[in-house]
Amino acid sequence: MSRVIAIAGKGGTGKTTIAALFIRSLVKSGKRPVLAVDADPDTNLPAALGLCAEKTLATIGGTREDFFAHRDQVPAGMPKEAWLEMQLAQALVESREIDLMVMGRPEGPGCYCYINNMLRKYLESLGKNYPFVVIDNEAGLEHLSRRTAQAVDTLVLVSDYSLNGLRAAERVRDLASEMKLQVGRVLLVVNRAPDELSAQFTSALASNGIELAGRVPVDPLVPEFEIAARTVMELPDGSPAVRAMEQIAETVLAM
Ligand SMILES: Nc1ncnc2c1ncn2[C@@H]1O[C@H](COP(=O)(O)OP(=O)(O)OP(=O)(O)O)[C@@H](O)[C@H]1O
Ligand SMILES: [Mg+2]
Repeated sequence: MSRVIAIAGKGGTGKTTIAALFIRSLVKSGKRPVLAVDADPDTNLPAALGLCAEKTLATIGGTREDFFAHRDQVPAGMPKEAWLEMQLAQALVESREIDLMVMGRPEGPGCYCYINNMLRKYLESLGKNYPFVVIDNEAGLEHLSRRTAQAVDTLVLVSDYSLNGLRAAERVRDLASEMKLQVGRVLLVVNRAPDELSAQFTSALASNGIELAGRVPVDPLVPEFEIAARTVMELPDGSPAVRAMEQIAETVLAM
C-alpha cells in the first residue's frame, strides 16, 4: 500500500523546502523508494532534491490535438492508452532512493483535458509501485481539480508565521473539501516559526481547526544552500530545519 502525502499552501511559504525535507527524512530513515512528484509548473523540487528532469509529463503529453496528430505512431494492436503510458514513462527520473516525476507546464493553446485525465490515471498507477508518494503543489489547490486530483492520505498545509498564511491554509483545506478531493487527514506545518507560537496565533490555529503537525524554525542554511546551488539533501544533519522536519515526518507518518 502506498502512502500519498501532498504538500500545499500559500505561495512562498516553503512548500518545496518542506516537501524536500520531508523526502529527505523518509529516505534517511529507510522509508524508500519515494516517488517525488513536482506538480508545480514552476518546477523547483528537482533542484531541491538534486535531480534533473529533462522531460515533463506535460511536454510529453501535449494537447489532445498533438496526441491525435501522432496517432499513426501507435503500434498496430496496442491500445492508445498503453502507448501514451509508455511515452509518459520517459519523464520518470530514477535515482537510488528517489524517483521523480515532473508535471511541467502545458505549452500553447489547445485542449489538455484528455491528456490531463491520462496523466492523472498514469500517476495513480505509477504511485502504487512506491511505499511513499510526496507531491509538491503550486500555491492554492485549484489545479488539482484540473490535473492531478488523486486520493491523498495526508494533506500537509504549509503556513508561514502569519494569520494570512493560516487563512490561506484554511482556504486550501476548504477548497479540497468543496472539490471533493479524497483526503484522509489534514495537518499544518508552520514554517519559519519562532520557538514559541504567540497566544494569538495559537488561538487562530485552534479556531480554524487544522491539526498542528509541528513548526520549522528559520534556518539560515536553507537559503544559503539554495543560493550556492546546493540541495536540501546536502544540508547538515544537525541543521535546525532538518531536525524539525524529522520530528514532523514522524508525526505525519504516525497519524
Ligand atoms: N525554514 C526556513 N528557513 C529559512 N528559509 C526558508 C525556510 N523555508 C523556506 N525558506 C526559503 O524561503 C524561500 C521560499 O521557499 P520555497 O520555495 O520552499 O516556498 P514555496 O512555498 O515552495 O514557494 P512557491 O509558492 O513559489 O512554490 C526559499 O528561498 C527558501 O530557501
Ligand atoms: Mg514551491
